[in-house]
Amino acid sequence: MADFKEAPAGAAVIEKTTVWFENRFPTAFAEYKKHMSEYYAPKNFNTWYFFGSLALLVLVIQIVTGIFLVMHYKPDANLAFASVEYIMRDVPWGWLIRYMHSTGASAFFIVVYLHMFRGMLYGSYRKPRELVWIFGCMIFLALMGEAFFGYLLPWGQMSYWGAQVIVNLFAAIPFVGPDLALLIRGDYVVSDATLNRFFSFHVIALPLVLLGLVVAHLLALHDVGSNNPDGVEIKAKKDPKTGIPLDGIPFHPYYTVHDIVGVAVFLILFSAVIFFAPELGGYFLEYNNFIPADPLKTPAHIAPVWYFTPFYSMLRATTDPMVNVFVVITALATVGALLKGGFSGKAKAGVVVAGLVVIALLKVFDAKFWGVVVMGGAVIILFALPWLDRSPVKSIRYRPGWHKGLLAVFVVVFFVLGYLGIQPVSDVATLMAQVGTIFYFAFFALMPVWSRIGEFKAVPDRVTFKPH
Ligand code: HEM
Repeated sequence: MADFKEAPAGAAVIEKTTVWFENRFPTAFAEYKKHMSEYYAPKNFNTWYFFGSLALLVLVIQIVTGIFLVMHYKPDANLAFASVEYIMRDVPWGWLIRYMHSTGASAFFIVVYLHMFRGMLYGSYRKPRELVWIFGCMIFLALMGEAFFGYLLPWGQMSYWGAQVIVNLFAAIPFVGPDLALLIRGDYVVSDATLNRFFSFHVIALPLVLLGLVVAHLLALHDVGSNNPDGVEIKAKKDPKTGIPLDGIPFHPYYTVHDIVGVAVFLILFSAVIFFAPELGGYFLEYNNFIPADPLKTPAHIAPVWYFTPFYSMLRATTDPMVNVFVVITALATVGALLKGGFSGKAKAGVVVAGLVVIALLKVFDAKFWGVVVMGGAVIILFALPWLDRSPVKSIRYRPGWHKGLLAVFVVVFFVLGYLGIQPVSDVATLMAQVGTIFYFAFFALMPVWSRIGEFKAVPDRVTFKPH
């Protein structure tokens, strides 16, 4: 009782009530201060900084609409497709809830890809934010799992055959693959058992993981503080009296109000899709998925939803000739490492043995397995970004012009890979995807070298900010 605050005499009811709560739940008030009204964010955030709060918004939309969908959806291979049609036609406002959820899935990836790209632009993954980035990469993985499991639920042709193709990939893993695929499916083919476990993962397991990771992501961010478009650490220059960063402004009310603009623009675009083009030309909802799953009829062309296609493209690019290219690259890298020198006699032998082991493994296991490794590796390599980037400055603003060019080419390559992943296989498309895959990995693998080269501009002491 000793620490209880007293509301001033004659205080309004609202103030008295606030004090009443604060006395009984001080943690909530302390956390609000720490994360909102006394969290000092750099004052120079730009449009790229909308996507974090938008990702949160989409997460909430997905959870809320998901809860309503589960009220009417039936996770049963004989009923699932019809229950979705029932939601679309008979459940009051069911069509809106379902379109919000399906459009929300694509919106989530758009927002998260842009959010990740912002990190790449401004070096937000660099010290001291490595863990913020790593939690982000884990979120990205969980999100991919969440989308994959959810896609089976409408039990349309694409749901069924998409799941069949992806689960079969696991069967390519040496030794444990076939048993692993069986474990995932719960059957020898995708079936009711698969639908039930995917449902369980989609509605409870992964949402819990996602929520936990998002909390960790934000707590870690608030411990070290936000980066900004200049890549300047605002905590380095504090007001000596208050200890508040000179370039920091309280998150609430400044950025809560600021983010409303982002939310408004987002909701306009989101509604436009939902009301005028919910399938978005087959990109957000594939046309084949309006046909009930038929285990006896394989569709002529199976393609995942757009957000997976860059990675799917890399999987398909990994053909036998591509594995031979990997062999040559490994051999060159081994020779390069030896020529670079600095190795003792034993270490040299170690490099040669490592090179030979990789080459032997590449030739022993088949291309399908390496395709899975390439596809997984394309996501896993993102985790290493904080240690691959050795540039003396964080933000792209102070990097050499050609770094910007290289990042632009990376984006174009990613889009082209995404496009190719939707197209049926052809020789030209495969060749393009192979070049794209090599570029994607070279961009990251050679980053420790290229990120140091060039003329860097001087980073200012304080953030650059024009009041508007
Ligand atoms: C559900 C998904 C996600 C949510 C809800 C989320 C939320 C947020 C929020 C609210 C912020 C602070 C505001 C901002 O800086 O924009 C933030 C910052 C950040 N996020 Fe995420 N995030 C998600 C996914 C990711 C992913 C996938 C990555 C990277 C792989 C990532 C990397 C970062 C980084 C590096 C920052 C610090 C940015 C800076 O200070 O400049 N996030 N995130």
